[in-house]
Amino acid sequence: PQTLRIAVMPGDGIGPEVVSEAVHCLESLREKHQLPIEWTRFPWPSHAWHEQYGEVMPEDALSQLEQYDAILLGALGDPGPMDDPERYLLPDSVSLAPLLQMRKGFDQWVCERPARLLPGARQYLADDRARDIDMLVIRENSEGEYVGQGGRLRQGTEHEVATQMEVFTRRGAERIIRYGFEQARLRAEARRGDGKQRKFPGRGGKLCESQVCVITKRNALRYWGDMYTEVFEEIARDYPDVATHHELIDAACMKFVQAPWTFDVVVASNLQGDILTDLAAVLSGGMGVAPSCNLNPDDPDMPSMFEPTHGSAPDIAGQGLADPTAMLFTTARMLEWLGRREPLLAKAGRELYDAVAADLAQNGGTRRDTRDIADSVLNRLK
Ligand code: IPM
Ligand code: MN
Repeated sequence: PQTLRIAVMPGDGIGPEVVSEAVHCLESLREKHQLPIEWTRFPWPSHAWHEQYGEVMPEDALSQLEQYDAILLGALGDPGPMDDPERYLLPDSVSLAPLLQMRKGFDQWVCERPARLLPGARQYLADDRARDIDMLVIRENSEGEYVGQGGRLRQGTEHEVATQMEVFTRRGAERIIRYGFEQARLRAEARRGDGKQRKFPGRGGKLCESQVCVITKRNALRYWGDMYTEVFEEIARDYPDVATHHELIDAACMKFVQAPWTFDVVVASNLQGDILTDLAAVLSGGMGVAPSCNLNPDDPDMPSMFEPTHGSAPDIAGQGLADPTAMLFTTARMLEWLGRREPLLAKAGRELYDAVAADLAQNGGTRRDTRDIADSVLNRLK
């Protein structure tokens, strides 16, 4: 079979620590199953690269990366050593820019952030129904509030005005909402296979096995809010088996805390999805266990990017304390994604997912460092 190539980018802060455990798992799985994968390590994007070359990544970075089938990224953003404020020189707008460039350049228009409170994961909510939290938040990843248009007029004066434009296209809305419905169907199918169906009130009082909830702020941001609502209703007609729901972003935040177990698939705009997924990560055990991925589902020549929800956590970097769980779940998702090209990889992805989940179920809640957790997962892969 064709060998699939992975660009491995440790990045900054705890990135290198958790990525190195991901690579150990990939090595182990490759050897065990003769997986047709290989990887190349890139020292960029990173703060260190910036110090040496004056840019966070090379100018031709995207064309180099385009040669790969997937990108595995640890974390970006490094304010420098905590004890040397002189080095806190690199603003977020510089160190994090590559992330947005990759999402945009490879048209990774889907950001999938599953939030499922797995056995062993920390339960932040007191209500025991929290154990049933199992949702997939799908964040629109290509436009909206992140288009980067705008500017500062009369900068620095007392009459300064900052503008930040939001751009939503019908095509952008259609593709992300349709993706949400497709995922809802797949989730219902998987639950049926496991004998764990869920029921959601659908149109005309009929019960459905899955639901899509679309998030807007249409009571205040009416142009894109109305367009999203219209597109949602149109596409819903193609999915009579999937229940539909709409929440305003503020109410959604409230309900995520009050009754998160009532959500299934949630589709949100770029910024609203960004905010909701930090909340969802905490509901499902915290940043240490929250996976994420940035996908381009329709162009096989464009690499998708796999990066946990968490950041570079400079406060604990270099101490071997970071929880690699989120990174390993993210790596499992990458293998599953590459499994669309080579089924062996999908199987390996499930194996890695199961090993990480089994470790969490058995040892979650006990105090462990990066090595302990990774070793426990590696043992299960043997
Ligand atoms: C995320 C991050 C990024 C985002 C930042 C680092 C630009 O918060 O991936 O959720 O806002 O998308
Ligand atoms: Mn975020």
